[in-house]
Amino acid sequence: MFFKKKFGQRLILSVGVLVFLSFCSFFLWMEYRHERILLEELENQKRIVFIQIVNPRREGELIQRVQLQRLKEISTNLGATPSRVKLGIARGLSVSLFFTLTLGLVFYFWLRNRLLKPLKAICEGMRIVAAGNTSLRLNWKNTSEVEMLSQEFNRMAGSLEKFHSEIYEKAEENAGLYGEAKKMHQALEETQKQLIYSEKLSTIGQMAAGIAHEMNNPLTTILGYTQIILTEMEKDNPNYEDLKKVEQETKRILKITQNLLTYSRPRELKFVPVEIPKIIDYALELVHHEKKYKNVEVVKNYNDCLPLVKGDEGELVQVFVNLFTNALHAFNEKDKLYKLILTAMHNEEQKTVEIEVSDTGEGIAPENLPHIFEPFFTTKRKNKGSGLGLFVIYAIIARHQGKVEVKSELNQGTTFLITLPENVTKITL
Ligand SMILES: Nc1ncnc2c1ncn2[C@@H]1O[C@H](COP(=O)(O)OP(=O)(O)O)[C@@H](O)[C@H]1O
Ligand SMILES: [Mg+2]
Repeated sequence: MFFKKKFGQRLILSVGVLVFLSFCSFFLWMEYRHERILLEELENQKRIVFIQIVNPRREGELIQRVQLQRLKEISTNLGATPSRVKLGIARGLSVSLFFTLTLGLVFYFWLRNRLLKPLKAICEGMRIVAAGNTSLRLNWKNTSEVEMLSQEFNRMAGSLEKFHSEIYEKAEENAGLYGEAKKMHQALEETQKQLIYSEKLSTIGQMAAGIAHEMNNPLTTILGYTQIILTEMEKDNPNYEDLKKVEQETKRILKITQNLLTYSRPRELKFVPVEIPKIIDYALELVHHEKKYKNVEVVKNYNDCLPLVKGDEGELVQVFVNLFTNALHAFNEKDKLYKLILTAMHNEEQKTVEIEVSDTGEGIAPENLPHIFEPFFTTKRKNKGSGLGLFVIYAIIARHQGKVEVKSELNQGTTFLITLPENVTKITL
């Protein structure tokens, strides 16, 4: 069958038929022309014959013979009438040209529909697949070759799609691994930073504590003698007030040295299971007398089922007293109502208790934030702060195997997050 044949064969066959038809038409036309010329010639001759016949009878026979001879000449020797033959050829050619063009046009449209269109679509498809859309499939069936090409295209797109999805899967896996590695790296960097920081604090602390220790005895002596002189001195003595100031300042220095000694060489610690809410409440009572406390709304938010932590009650109370004192100092607008939000949560996964002390005070400037745990770092007036509160907190929490973190936004507030490892027994509030 013609339509079942391969396209190449069909193409050659079609061109052959086209050429054959052109030639046929040309020769048919030529035949036709030849006959017409002959007929015309014959007619002419008849006319001659007729003319000759009107001549005397005997000669008529002769004339007819001559004319027949003439006809024969014309038919065998067409070249004898060149203009007529040329005209015939030209007409023949134009008719065959017309035939060829019409057939060519029909052939072109047939070719365009059956081959060019699908080829164009397949090229476009390749471009789409190359751009990444590997889900594209084609369904051209115009010729068996085009159908074959479509199927091959679909097979190629299919394997590319499979390949792509495998690559994506691997890439996702790698991205996950990369993310984890990045997280671990960040955690490591953080720990390293903390280590360096605590190392730095520890060095400064040790040095300061050494100095404090050396100063402690002479200062106690100075304070002792000052107090003896003060008791023996009359109150109206002009030196009395000055000596009172000496006593006051010596007491302040002694408090500092005491703080420094707490950092380096704490008194004998007693680690017992402690209830954090109780510690917090006790510390709140200790700062209750502060003037600013009346402008503060205390919001408590404790987990119902908080585990105990193992710690030294005295030291933990000191931590919260220091934190609350700092918060109160940060509330410095007289008639404003501030909030102190205290949260204690159990982190079951990490097996820790997380305590947040959040205030709505003035906040900490970003440039100060990296220094607040350093000894003697203070932004307060001379007699208001020693810069040792957070330094001591840091040391105490470290002794309890916990950690302390801070978040702060200027004019918004500050949050300290203390994490302590849980003890085994749980308490229900
Ligand atoms: N809750 C807080 N709000 C604002 N600033 C704070 C807060 N806590 C600490 N700070 C800042 O950290 C500094 C260091 O605090 P601290 O070590 O307790 O020393 P001190 O209170 O003697 O200044 C403070 O001077 C203050 O600038
Ligand atoms: Mg303080």
